[in-house]
Amino acid sequence: MAKNFKPSFYVTTPIYYVNDVPHIGHAYTTVIADTLARFNRLSGREVFFLTGTDEHGQKVEKAAKAKGLKPIELADQVVVRFKDLWKALNISFDFFIRTTQPFHEEVVQKIFQKLKDKGDIYKGTYKGWYCDSTEHFLSDDVPLQEGGYKICPDCNVKAYLVTEECYFFKLSAYGDRLLDFYAQNPEFVRPPSRMNEVASFVRQGLKDLSITRTTVKWGIPVPGDLEHTVYVWFDALHNYLTGIGYDWKLELYQKFWPATIHLIGKDILRFHAVFWPAFLMAADFPLPQTVYSHGWWLKDETKMSKSKGNVLDPHLILNTLGADPLRYFLLREIPIGLDGNFSHEGFLHRVNSDLANDLGNLVQRTLTMIHNSFQGKIEETEDEEEGDKELRLAFNKLKEDVSVLYEQYALNRALEEIWVYINSVNKYLADNEPWKLAQKETKRKRLARILYQAASAIRGVSYLTFPVMPETSEKIWEYLGEETSIKDVLFSGFKFENYRLGQIIQKPEPLFPRILLKDFLGEEVSQSMSERKEEMEEISFDEFKRMDLRVGEIVQAERVPGTDKLLKLEVDIGEEKRTMVAGVADVYSPEELTGKKLVVIVNLKPAVIRGIESQGMLLAAETEGKAIIPFFESDAPTGAKVK
Ligand code: ME8
Ligand code: MG
Repeated sequence: MAKNFKPSFYVTTPIYYVNDVPHIGHAYTTVIADTLARFNRLSGREVFFLTGTDEHGQKVEKAAKAKGLKPIELADQVVVRFKDLWKALNISFDFFIRTTQPFHEEVVQKIFQKLKDKGDIYKGTYKGWYCDSTEHFLSDDVPLQEGGYKICPDCNVKAYLVTEECYFFKLSAYGDRLLDFYAQNPEFVRPPSRMNEVASFVRQGLKDLSITRTTVKWGIPVPGDLEHTVYVWFDALHNYLTGIGYDWKLELYQKFWPATIHLIGKDILRFHAVFWPAFLMAADFPLPQTVYSHGWWLKDETKMSKSKGNVLDPHLILNTLGADPLRYFLLREIPIGLDGNFSHEGFLHRVNSDLANDLGNLVQRTLTMIHNSFQGKIEETEDEEEGDKELRLAFNKLKEDVSVLYEQYALNRALEEIWVYINSVNKYLADNEPWKLAQKETKRKRLARILYQAASAIRGVSYLTFPVMPETSEKIWEYLGEETSIKDVLFSGFKFENYRLGQIIQKPEPLFPRILLKDFLGEEVSQSMSERKEEMEEISFDEFKRMDLRVGEIVQAERVPGTDKLLKLEVDIGEEKRTMVAGVADVYSPEELTGKKLVVIVNLKPAVIRGIESQGMLLAAETEGKAIIPFFESDAPTGAKVK
């Protein structure tokens, strides 16, 4: 048994803000967590995997207001988007917590009260610069700009000065205890470089933390002082307790707390590695084992973030390719901890080379040969020769190595090792040339051995990649004629030798078709991407005037069945109503479009899209295939000309 073996494994993701829809960055953390959960289930541990949404606070309050919604209405909508994405990505979470759930709110209030009774929470006045993008006060060393304001160094947005009566948490009293705890538990913050960063922050001295707001209405009320709401981070961090049943399902809590690993992005390390353990110490809870801080996915060298508007929509990839290529790419490309640059070209390159070529072709070739030579049956073989044995023993070693790497959360290294092995299986086939043996009647048993060996190796590889690519792995097992689900085979019990002779395999379909940029961006988008690169020629005002642009009002909207992106719209253009089909369903729901006014071109030649005649087109900005519609803010008369 490994040194750190624990019969239970509790993994969490951050709970995501509901101010906007999910993107690749959120997918990343969640895919890591899912892979760890799946591996630990294979290892025979009892696993609890928690994710959810962070629904209170100023940021959500503001976003809802901008959309003319109540915060809870916005939250309800965005929660659906998160859950849809997790479904499309095959995320096997055990519970999805929302901080607006009453059991959560009650516990936050109880813990608040407990710390107040104890004297760890007291009332005072706060003056400071607040950034509502990350929902925190800037530290004092952030310099004042010339205009007399401060800029948040993390988000690069303007912070504003806040003076208010509030409650403080006595964080300053916990510095030494935190430093002791870090020293005793060097694996509390990982990777190690992050531990140094955290410890040196604490060593500089901690100030008490303001943990209530009077300016924010959308929050949990402070017990006994209803002018105040609980600061969103004090509220949110406690999800890790309430999401595991504290104190409404205590048997669950007792089984799983403390958490094995909190996965987070490095943007929120301080909250998890300093504030969170201090809150827990104050309320007498055991502390989590590890806070693992991963790097950022960058787009054009800057962090992808909702506030910057440079996010990539994972649905573009998922709709065309399913979950596994994206899961594989995110985990294979960078070690957890470093930043990575996400480009569609890089993604395609990796997927085509590792998945379509190395793995996909291996499976396809081997199983096709078994079909052609043995009608799909795994036949009686000759004894192993030296090279056959090597392939088997190398797998046994691989399995041990991969197990250790998964245990250490070194997912990219695990995949790297598996791919080294896949290529050695490809080499094994190239060296043994089974396609030549197939021509010789006297070599049948030798041929059977080689194909059996290769099929066993493929079975082994698909077992080991299951935590990362569950769908593909199960598919390969089905091709191989295995009737058990991979989920039901314990890691310790899995053996190369357990692939049975006599097994009937299925004819495989290509696992990963080779893909081109346009395949998954969609024709329109990749075309418009290449068009954008060309210089547009000048046109005269008369040419411009030939376009009939009007204020249109969307009176009705519905999804076009069988598509992910298309909406069918009824647009009032003044003297008549027009039907238009628009590729915006991945960004806008029919409900939110109804009643909106926007610019439409009405003398565009009609086009038939999915059997519907589109009599005009709406104008929208396009960012990586994602449309953003400019709506009229003031009440423009329907049908008015736009010029
Ligand atoms: O911070 N690259 O929520 P959030 C990698 N509600 N990961 C990224 C990323 C990127 N470009 N962008 C976001 C919050 N993430 C709080 C958390 S927890 C008690 C409260 C991931 O919606 C990463 O995991 O801003 C990051 O920590 C998280 O999304 C932030 O999500
Ligand atoms: Mg954020």
